[in-house]
Amino acid sequence: MKKALVCGAGGFIGSHLVKRLKAEGFWVRGVDLKYPRFSPTQADDFIVGDLRDLSVCHEAVDARFDEVYQLAADMGGAGYIFTGENDASVMHNSAQINLNILEACRRRNSFRIFYSSSACIYPEYRQLDADNAGLAESDAYPAAPDSEYGWEKLFSERLYAAYARNHGFEVRVARYHNIFGPEGAWNDGKEKAPAAICRKVAQAGNPGEIEIWGDGEQTRSFLYIDECLDGTIRFMRSDWAGPVNIGSEEMVSINRLAAIAAEIAGKKITPRHIPGPLGVRGRNSNNKLIFEKLGWRPSQPLANGLAKTYAWIDQQVQKAKRLKDAPKPVIRQPEIVAAE
Ligand code: NAD
Ligand code: GDD
Repeated sequence: MKKALVCGAGGFIGSHLVKRLKAEGFWVRGVDLKYPRFSPTQADDFIVGDLRDLSVCHEAVDARFDEVYQLAADMGGAGYIFTGENDASVMHNSAQINLNILEACRRRNSFRIFYSSSACIYPEYRQLDADNAGLAESDAYPAAPDSEYGWEKLFSERLYAAYARNHGFEVRVARYHNIFGPEGAWNDGKEKAPAAICRKVAQAGNPGEIEIWGDGEQTRSFLYIDECLDGTIRFMRSDWAGPVNIGSEEMVSINRLAAIAAEIAGKKITPRHIPGPLGVRGRNSNNKLIFEKLGWRPSQPLANGLAKTYAWIDQQVQKAKRLKDAPKPVIRQPEIVAAE
């Protein structure tokens, strides 16, 4: 039986990836600071541990794995990575994890390793216009990411490439473009625009109003989790190292994203634009290279994935509301009987 290690298996993409690898018949070990938040892990073995600690990495890679997926990172949406407040920890934590896990893999000859980089590595100067024609992999340099999160990802891309060059690793580096779906962060400050907008629409009345950061004309493309995993696994098993975009080419403005979510919910929603962390003005994936190398590229319309995501977030919102509205248990004080 083939063995896979998933670092970050308690997170959004990692927990879905574990399910996928189990369905394929792998023996899977997950590692994370925490268990998945929304459903039990399907990993055969799960280490709750801190990958910044080299001894935890050695414990995780205690034998050779056929496939290692390194997804663990200190990350979040615009509200987490663009405020500046988390810069030091994002850089320190994620770089430390990558430095450690590569060394642990080297000791056990676990050479095939997938690394999840990000569209955030692309230079800001190529993303100043909302009408972005798509970022090709070769656009990465001269480097000028707009966030420290992006700089750490770029550094780690180079670290993986160096381990390939000097130590015989077979690295696979993908640049994910805003992945979304059920069981992702939706209300903890790390949520990205698709989850945040679905939550706001689910919480709004009908007719209702939702807040959108900025003028809402900034653009992104969003990739549904199932297609992200299809691409990840195909790429991992291919004989090509990347880096490659794994993202959708269906670019929309955030206002349009909100309009689609409102349509799905069957609500009449008016956006209210407020100041907030914005990131780049326009971003889209260019999938020419992935199609050329793997004969595959994402194809599902945004609205399909968003409908499934909205349904799940609406459930979470209703569940949270029921808990809040439930009558509080009355705690009775024991009666004090006066001494005679
Ligand atoms: P996530 O935050 O849900 O998952 C990351 C997991 O890493 C979390 O469960 C977290 O607890 C774990 N982790 C963090 N520090 C750790 C530590 N010191 N030791 C052990 N575990 C630790 O994020 P995700 O959306 O599942 O993203 C997975 C990967 O893909 C990340 O590397 C992220 O940067 C990258 N990525 C994601 C997106 C996206 O849109 N989701 C886009 C680009 C890149
Ligand atoms: N999160 C969020 N919440 N974003 C909002 C909101 C809101 O309520 N309203 C408007 N936005 C806008 C943000 O201001 C930003 O301009 C845009 O929606 C997209 O925000 P996010 O989805 O949070 O992040 P991102 O696309 O800028 O970056 C994400 O994707 C990268 C890969 O493409 C992050 O998750 C990165 O960590 C990731 O690497």
